[in-house]
Amino acid sequence: MKNKISLLLMVLMVVTLTYCGSKKTETQTEDYGAPVETTTPVHAVDVIAQGDALVKASDCKTCHHATNKLIGPSHTDVAKKYEFTAANVTYLAKKIIEGGTGVWGEIPMTPHADISQVDAEKMARYVLSLDGETEH
Ligand code: HEC
Repeated sequence: MKNKISLLLMVLMVVTLTYCGSKKTETQTEDYGAPVETTTPVHAVDVIAQGDALVKASDCKTCHHATNKLIGPSHTDVAKKYEFTAANVTYLAKKIIEGGTGVWGEIPMTPHADISQVDAEKMARYVLSLDGETEH
């Protein structure tokens, strides 16, 4: 009986270690990928296309249109308001995840806690690209 329990514990440990190990590899791949995104134009276009797809797949279109004001500002107006810089990508990604109010009026933007930081940044890059500006 005691042997069975220790065997079970061993199996659990191996499973946990394997799981953590594979998770670490995923993060590392992303870390290595990040600098390429900002320096390789082809990859940057990829990120913007991915952001476009993510925005279309989410609920953004309930309140935002690319060029017309709906409940929220048009995404092109957002692009015109902000320079396409890393700082503004971070700011807008945070706003997409946390929501907020007071920049464009009193209507609040709903939070999107289910959207990951990486995806929110892709969405922000797509929005910021809409006035034809490239990241600088
Ligand atoms: C319920 C309506 C609603 C939904 C859904 C919504 N937004 Fe918004 N969004 C708003 C409103 C309203 C504002 C203006 C907020 C303000 O004045 O601070 C806004 C502002 C923004 C801004 C500009 C933020 C700023 O501080 O200037 C961005 C970028 C944005 N939304 C992106 C998105 C994206 C991407 C999605 C989908 C994941 C989304 N929104 C979903 C209503 C919405």
